[in-house]
Formats: sequence, C-alpha cells, structure tokens
Amino acid sequence: MSSAWSWYISIIVVANILACVWLIRWTQKKRPGEARPDETTGHSWDGLTELNQPMPRWWLWLFYGTIVWGLIYLVLYPGLGAFPGLLGWSQYSQYDEEVEQMEAEVAPLFARYAEMDFLELARHEEAMQTGRRLFANNCAVCHGTDGGGRPGFPDLTDDDWKWGGDPEQVHHSILEGRQGIMPPLGDALGEDGVEAVTAYVFHLNDRDAPEELVEAGRGLFSQQCAACHGQDGKGNQAMGAPNLTNDTWVYGGSREAIERSIREGREAEMPGQENILGADRVHLLTAYVLSLSMDTRDNGAEAPDGDE
Ligand code: HEC
Ligand code: HEC
Repeated sequence: MSSAWSWYISIIVVANILACVWLIRWTQKKRPGEARPDETTGHSWDGLTELNQPMPRWWLWLFYGTIVWGLIYLVLYPGLGAFPGLLGWSQYSQYDEEVEQMEAEVAPLFARYAEMDFLELARHEEAMQTGRRLFANNCAVCHGTDGGGRPGFPDLTDDDWKWGGDPEQVHHSILEGRQGIMPPLGDALGEDGVEAVTAYVFHLNDRDAPEELVEAGRGLFSQQCAACHGQDGKGNQAMGAPNLTNDTWVYGGSREAIERSIREGREAEMPGQENILGADRVHLLTAYVLSLSMDTRDNGAEAPDGDE
C-alpha cells in the first residue's frame, strides 16, 4: 500500500471513531435551550410527545463497548493503513497456514500412493477418486473434465498418444511437460503443394482424394514431412509428431484444418507439473490418466466421466 493511501485510510478510521465518541457525548446531554418544565422537547405528533432525556445508560455503555472493541481490534489486526497489527495476521498468512495444515494431512496419503505401481493404482477405486478431483482442479481447464480434450488439447481417453502411452512416457509428459512444434510449411510447399500433401494425408486415412493430387503429395510428404511424421505417416512419439493415419486429430480433421496445420504450423505446450503439483501428485495423476484409456479399452465398470 502506498503511504498516501495508508494515511488516507488511517485518518478516515480514526476520524470516524472520534466522531462516534463525540456523537455519544452529545446525545448524552440534555439540550439546555430546549429544556421545558414538562421534560419534553415540545415536539408532538398526533398526541405523541418526545421526551427530552439522555440516552439510557446501558445503551451508552454498549456503544462505548463497541468503540473500545474497535480500538483493540485496530491494535491487533490490520485496519490502520499499512500497520499490520500486533498479531501479524493477514488473509495471506491465514491461507498459507491452512494450506500447510491441509498439506500435512494429505501428504502421507499421496506418499502411500506414490509407492504403488501405476497400473495397480489405476485400479484402486479410492485412489482414482482422489485422482479425479486432482484432474478436475488442475487439468480439466485444458483437457476437459472427462479428459476428452478439445481443439489444440489432446484427448487423454483414447489410445492415440502424441508422446507415447506407456506409463513411463505418460509420467514424463505430466511431470516435465511437453512442447510440440510443427513448423509452418506453406512457403516451402506453395499453395499447390499444400493442397497435394493434404490430399495425400486424406489418402493415408482412407478418405477420398483425387488420384493425381495424392501422387503429387506422396513425393512431397516424403521430402517435407517424413522426417518427423515417419515415412508411413504414423508419427514419431519422440518428438510429439502425431500419427497422421488414424483419423484422430488434435486440431481438427477437416480439409481446412489440415491445410492450416501444414500452412501455418502448430505449437502446443503441456506445462510440466513437477514444480506445481510435486512428484507424488503427478504419480497419482499418471495412474488416473492411464485409467481413462483403460476404461474405454476394457469397457470397464466405471466410465471416465461417470458422475458428471
Ligand atoms: C494449459 C493447458 C494444459 C494443462 C493445465 C494441462 N495440460 Fe496436458 N497437455 C496440454 C497440451 C497443449 C498438450 C499437448 C502437448 C504437445 O503435444 O506437445 C498436453 C499433453 C498432455 C499429455 C500427453 C498426451 C499425449 O498424447 O501424449 C498428457 C498425458 C497430459 N497432457 C496430461 C495432463 C495432466 C494430467 C494435467 C494436469 C496435471 C495436464 N495435462 C494439464 C495442455 C495442458
Ligand atoms: C519438424 C517436425 C515436423 C515436420 C517437418 C512436419 N510436422 Fe506435422 N507436426 C509435427 C508436430 C510436433 C506436430 C504436433 C504439433 C502440436 O502438438 O501442436 C505436428 C502436427 C501436424 C498436424 C496436426 C495433427 C492433428 O492432430 O491435428 C498435421 C495435419 C501435420 N502435422 C501434417 C504435417 C505434414 C503434412 C507435414 C509435411 C508437409 C508435416 N506435418 C511436417 C512435426 C512436424
């Protein structure tokens, strides 16, 4: 807080308290000018007269009590501008304390889960309930509440992995993050080239495309794309280059979306969670993410978004 604001607030607070004291003392006195023999102020409404008497004592003391309470509060707690109060309390310190307390309660639980292996955990119902909550709080903004993804954010419930679906690779994706970069190739290919290579990508997915374009695209693909997506177009998980043959798309599978991926390139960043959630929570989340695709594969009892 700037010191001008600090003074501004302090002066308003103190002035208000002084004003209250003055008001009470003022109402306590009889107003001599208005003193009348019948003890009234002389005001009368339909026969009701107003007595000219001070406030009742108990009421005054109650009022003084609240003022004293206010002063004690101001000494102990924040209220006078930049002065933090003798107790040093703040919403932040309270929040930190509560977080610390909660952390101390749940840490042993996560530590216990961290000793279990991913697949064992993935079938552990209670652990997966905790995993679902962690996912909802930390991952759902990008990957969707059910982990089903949305344009630009991969679906975590299917069997198509950009960076690999083995427990170790999924763990790596979450712990350290991932950064996939598809370079823009519009200039290198020209508009005709983009069209041809898109036709070839259609062909890889058994979709209809004009024969000549597919043939023209085939050569371009092996020159420009195969280094990352593989000769057969099945992708390369070491660099996050997705499989282009299974008709599963992060950025959409329409002709426009595919052409745009090729022309303008794409970039994606998965933020590493090591410093955000810590190793134990990441361990549990890895098992949870694995459980999402196990559910679809085994057609198991519980659907991933069962209770939403
Ligand atoms: C800010 C958005 C964002 C958040 C939050 C986020 N992710 Fe991601 N995640 C991404 C993006 C984007 C990718 C794709 C990265 C790439 O392809 O290079 C990704 C990729 C992944 C992958 C790899 C998928 C694959 O196909 O190989 C996993 C696993 C994953 N995220 C899990 C999680 C988990 C678990 C959380 C919660 C702790 C999480 N993500 C939070 C954006 C996010
Ligand atoms: C330098 C490596 C590299 C080259 C070369 C490359 N790609 Fe990619 N491509 C990637 C990566 C990595 C991604 C994922 C980008 C992301 O996660 O944002 C990707 C994404 C894509 C996508 C989007 C996939 C989806 O799921 O929506 C398409 C389509 C694509 N590439 C086609 C091509 C074609 C066609 C070529 C050749 C003209 C090509 N790429 C060349 C690395 C490459």
